[in-house]
Amino acid sequence: MSTIQEATRRRYGQWARARAGTLDGGAPVDEGCCGAPDDGDGGCGSGYPAAELGALGLTSAASLGCGNPTLLADLRPGEVVLDLGSGGGLDVLLSARRVSPGGHAYGLDATPEMVALAQGHQARAGVANATFLLGTMEAIPLADASVDVIISNCVVNLAEDKAAVLHEAHRVLRPGGRLAISDLVELEPLAPALKRDLDAWAGCVAGTIPVQAYTDLLAAAGFADPQVEVHRAIGLPAGGGRIGSASIRARKPGGPGPGR
Ligand SMILES: C[S@@+](CC[C@H](N)C(=O)[O-])C[C@H]1O[C@@H](n2cnc3c(N)ncnc32)[C@H](O)[C@@H]1O
Repeated sequence: MSTIQEATRRRYGQWARARAGTLDGGAPVDEGCCGAPDDGDGGCGSGYPAAELGALGLTSAASLGCGNPTLLADLRPGEVVLDLGSGGGLDVLLSARRVSPGGHAYGLDATPEMVALAQGHQARAGVANATFLLGTMEAIPLADASVDVIISNCVVNLAEDKAAVLHEAHRVLRPGGRLAISDLVELEPLAPALKRDLDAWAGCVAGTIPVQAYTDLLAAAGFADPQVEVHRAIGLPAGGGRIGSASIRARKPGGPGPGR
């Protein structure tokens, strides 16, 4: 395991342990969206309808994400969904409801404490059509062409090898399958010292890449129609650069349907 991976697992392991006894997600996250400086306009969990959260017995405090990929993904009954870096499981449980009847939602996370937290949330919400897996998005433990939709919320930026993640996402998607993720991107170059800072990497800042680099990686992995739409910019202190939250969509070529 690399130093960056260790720092990331330590951070999210601590977060999950602090919330293990508080099934509604615990106290509101006070370090800003995923640890990135928050400009007060939106932030962790702000994109979730309260009624949907309430139906699961959760609050937006259960989210460490930077968007709501379950809305981006346009999920349909019967589909199989995979959430990369599922954390406390909010997006998986919401997705499981949306793909019911007949569908299934998988959550994949590299931090054992996060998987345990998500399983606790699942048991409390009484959602049967969801499974939480321990593993990494660089080596997804699912078969080729077994998933209709991949979602993810503020996680791909944490990977050192983003090409490997997107290659794996493409492998497990069925032809015609969709990728719909929320993530942070680099809008203005970050200060070199910040790029090397382990806490800033684990906090979803240092690992961000520019929009064009993201689009290029998606195309290189084999995705069609890659789109990266930035909807919120976040300035970093002391001229340290600028990041933004983005909605990222692409599809795997092939499969049934018009235009595929
Ligand atoms: C910022 S949190 C986001 C959690 C969740 N998606 C949400 O919206 O609340 C990042 C999550 O990604 C997980 N993670 C980090 N690196 C990973 C990897 N390489 N593979 C799978 N999960 C990873 C962490 O354990 C953590 O749960």
